[in-house]
Amino acid sequence: MNIRFEPAEGLTGTVTPPADKSISHRAALLGAMSSEPVRIANYLQAADTTSTLEAVRALGALVEEHGSDLVIRGTGLREAREPDEPIDVGNAGTLLRLLPGWLASQEGRSFTLDGDESIRRRPVDRVAEPLRLMGAELEATRGRFAPVTIHGRHLRSVSVELEVASAQVKSCLLLAGLAADGATTVGEPSRSRDHTERMLLRAGVSIHRNGRHVTAVNADELALDAIEVPADPSSAAFLIAAGVLVPGSRLLLANVGVNWTRTGFIRILRRMRGIVLGDLESEVEELVPDEPVSDLDVAHGALEGTVVHADEVPLAIDELPLVALLGCFAEGETVVGGAQELRVKESDRIAGVVEGLRGLGADIEATDDGFAVTGTGGLRGGTIDSRGDHRLAMMGAVAGLASSEGVEVLGMDAAAVSYPRFQEDLLSLTGGG
Ligand code: S3P
Repeated sequence: MNIRFEPAEGLTGTVTPPADKSISHRAALLGAMSSEPVRIANYLQAADTTSTLEAVRALGALVEEHGSDLVIRGTGLREAREPDEPIDVGNAGTLLRLLPGWLASQEGRSFTLDGDESIRRRPVDRVAEPLRLMGAELEATRGRFAPVTIHGRHLRSVSVELEVASAQVKSCLLLAGLAADGATTVGEPSRSRDHTERMLLRAGVSIHRNGRHVTAVNADELALDAIEVPADPSSAAFLIAAGVLVPGSRLLLANVGVNWTRTGFIRILRRMRGIVLGDLESEVEELVPDEPVSDLDVAHGALEGTVVHADEVPLAIDELPLVALLGCFAEGETVVGGAQELRVKESDRIAGVVEGLRGLGADIEATDDGFAVTGTGGLRGGTIDSRGDHRLAMMGAVAGLASSEGVEVLGMDAAAVSYPRFQEDLLSLTGGG
């Protein structure tokens, strides 16, 4: 589906962005691993998280859905059922990486995970290799891609140092560690989102952090109290960018998750002099169980270029395409480095962002691990290909609202992966809804 986004006069009003995708995936998985029923309020209703519900059903969990409120009756930590068919993870990389952590310990049972065309290009060796150190048995296609088959085995705990900070890999290993012997430690070169750790703490797991290392002790069972999923800061980021870029904008985004490991984009934007007011969580060293929320008050303003360093990248990984877009409108240069992970997201996001924005009039160059943009005061407009990637589709839409001639986004339907109501929300803010 191709959609044209015309230049907007200003975005005004209040929107509650969709529920957090990362937290929804984790709530469904931990719910399925729990022995007692788990209530989840405001579960994300989008393609990726529907894949997770289908997956946990295939593994034997019962899921009652009342709109976005769920009750999950799990199988318990060690009792996942072997499904008759491969599990379809759809487009969900998080599901592809987290699920093997649970399944690797289901002794005597085998599971195959497969997904769409984009999933089949996303590497699973990053979880398969450390899981094998724990005694897991996995077979991936051409050594590193889906379909991947996991044969459940008795696992032993390990201490692993990750070369690249990845919440998905860290989470996978922590989940595997729950049913392994002893305590599992994962170290990262820099901090990444910590939703899994917070939720495991709530589930009664003995888990603690020491700097860049997190250690979880194995458990007999998980006991999770009710979970309320906040609005997703990564989805909110598209509306924030639109509000900052389109003259005359002033908007309020309600109930957004502000866990500090997710608000890197807002910190970068504030450094660029963007106006985003809100009660952001400050960096916490100790593990805390809660997911803080805040309303965010966004207004249009002039921007300055900035440099984004490698240790900030995991804290803003999904929002980096928007940093490039903001850079087009900012005074001076905006440079992102240390972000080679962008090449293995739902699409190669370095190529998609650079070629896409250049086609709209940007002065932008790709580097091996990021990009450099020289602000030219705005964007002309034109056509941009989403490459089937939800975040590139939504970046293209925001570019259109802020451009001088409008933007046609090819493959706008990709937005449904994380934000099915995106166009309706934009319409309501631009006075069309
Ligand atoms: C996610 C972690 C990030 C992010 C992805 C969701 C998660 O991936 O890009 O959209 O929910 O754990 P990596 O951990 O691989 O960087």
